[in-house]
Amino acid sequence: MGHGIAQVAAQAGFDVLAIEAQQNALDAGYKRIQTSLQKVIAKDVSKGVYKDEAAGKIAYDEILSRVKTTTNMKDAKDCDLIIEAIAENMDLKISFYENLGPIIKPEAVFASNTSSLQITKMALASGRPKQFVGLHFFNPVQLMKLVEVIRTEHTSDKVFDSLLAFGKDINKVTVSCRDTPGFIVNRLLVPFLSQAMLMVDRHEASVTDIDISMQLGAGHPMGPLHLSDYIGLDTIYSILLGWKKDYPKETAFVIPKCLEKRVKDGNLGRKSGKGFYIWDGDKPKGPA
Ligand code: CAA
Repeated sequence: MGHGIAQVAAQAGFDVLAIEAQQNALDAGYKRIQTSLQKVIAKDVSKGVYKDEAAGKIAYDEILSRVKTTTNMKDAKDCDLIIEAIAENMDLKISFYENLGPIIKPEAVFASNTSSLQITKMALASGRPKQFVGLHFFNPVQLMKLVEVIRTEHTSDKVFDSLLAFGKDINKVTVSCRDTPGFIVNRLLVPFLSQAMLMVDRHEASVTDIDISMQLGAGHPMGPLHLSDYIGLDTIYSILLGWKKDYPKETAFVIPKCLEKRVKDGNLGRKSGKGFYIWDGDKPKGPA
């Protein structure tokens, strides 16, 4: 998701430093920004936002020039806002924030793009809980209009308001809620996705029939199994695993067998080319 967040911020005029631990991940993310930005600019040219392709190319180069890349966390020391989008694992995030705190200038604000983990724990680990929020984006970040802004009991009003304003600056609609598992969207969406997978476990309907049903019968842009592959089965699995551990009495949090098997086999959906579907880039070719 990091590449999408970097892109929308650059499109809105912010200077962005994109950071990945590994150079190959950084290169892959940068390439995704280039591909997506080409689509965005081409659409804007056809809508008349830019008068012709040459003007579109100038805008493309300008936006891309605002995105710098590095694998060295220390290069971010003077950044005003750090948005973290690392894997959905609390131990990883805690150790990231413990290391980050002393490196970054004291007045900078930290925001986690976690989908499901408690913001308060990370805020305390960062050593600057007043300047810490959840800032949750949706896939694909370039197209989805929503951002959830989550404050904890420690977040200062000034910081919270500045993040609501940042959401507006990057042309998103913001909503907020308490520091509760999955915030608003994932608390509703992830149990829905797992119910579709439980139907697969019980052999009640085929993957394609479940998806067609929710598209044509409920008006969803993607069916639940298509969407699960699109988000990443490993991401959904990590969310459910964490919730099951932290809220064992909540019956909405279950781990379907078909999800667990695919993740253990390395079939993670779109990102690995196979999940509930076989994928060709960003499009499913047919059921796996
Ligand atoms: N960047 C730029 N343009 C993009 C793009 C990207 N990343 N992805 C797609 N597009 C463009 C396509 O090129 C296409 O452009 P044209 O109309 O010019 O051809 C247009 O967007 C529509 O795309 P598609 O034709 O491929 O497909 P679509 O009409 O189904 O729209 C979609 C794609 C917007 C993703 C839509 O299917 C959708 O809204 N799906 C549901 C997504 C969703 O629910 N996301 C939330 C997941 S939950 C989450 O992310 C949070 C979490 O923590 C797990």
